[in-house]
Amino acid sequence: MILVVKSGGEQALPEWRASFAEVAPDLDVRWWDDATVDPAAVDYALVWDPEPGRLAALPRLRAIFGSGAGVDAILRDQHLPKHLPLVRCVPPEATQRMGEFVCWAVLSLSKDARRMAIAQAKCAWDAFDPPFAAAAKTVGIMGLGAMGQRAVAMLRGLGIPVIGWSRSRKTIEGVECFAGPRGLPAFLARSEVLVCLLPATPETVGLIAAPLLGQLPPGAGLVQVGRGAHQVLPDIVAALDAGQLSGAMLDVFETEPLPSDNPAWTHPRITVTPHAASLPSRHERARYIADCIARFERGEALPNLYLPERGY
Ligand code: GLV
Repeated sequence: MILVVKSGGEQALPEWRASFAEVAPDLDVRWWDDATVDPAAVDYALVWDPEPGRLAALPRLRAIFGSGAGVDAILRDQHLPKHLPLVRCVPPEATQRMGEFVCWAVLSLSKDARRMAIAQAKCAWDAFDPPFAAAAKTVGIMGLGAMGQRAVAMLRGLGIPVIGWSRSRKTIEGVECFAGPRGLPAFLARSEVLVCLLPATPETVGLIAAPLLGQLPPGAGLVQVGRGAHQVLPDIVAALDAGQLSGAMLDVFETEPLPSDNPAWTHPRITVTPHAASLPSRHERARYIADCIARFERGEALPNLYLPERGY
């Protein structure tokens, strides 16, 4: 069985191969552009952002594995073979890392870590009262999939009150959950720190813009770990400058890497991180995908399938 890989650049191939060798020794793992691979012999593909049309040129492909939790970069391919299962990569380590990152981001806002970093860069002893105790503010999590639910549990473990919002209603013990467009205003009005963990779908693109930000309590914090396409960055900057937002932790951007002249880099209330919220190790991802392939070969159901009617 052949698996072709396009994720992490060709320099990542040895690590992918070594990782798969441990968990799926029978799998022949090859680089996407390997000219010695017969396209008709390829069974599976593991990709992040395949060039449009390339997957459709693999005539015996049986399933596509995204190398991340979000498959929006794969869906941009107009020729994507839509009849094939497309699996999102959500190993337990991805949800754990995301939960850790969200906790770190919320705590950073509560301590104004950005202000401390700016002062340290100037060797300045800038003693100030941290703006709030994290446990005194309600965190609103948008997106209650595996990552959102892990973040909810970990924040609650820190004693931080949490509410949630999702496309379809979720039930999480001890957490007030809101759903759909009708539930959004009441959710936003209570979200003193808003965390975006949504997938990028036609419904969510451009959501984090002035109309939404204006519904948050004044001085709210923002943690953006969804996709750059969710946000209108000038609106976030305007909300920060007007005091409607007190701070923003932005991990995702419309253009990545974020261009060096983007004002987010130097804004005193924005912390920029390089799409680093939750990147599970290749080893963990290989284990997850090998397990999926084994299930698929046995005719069992695949987990975390992309569903077109849902958009993710
Ligand atoms: C990263 O953004 C992912 O989708 O896993």
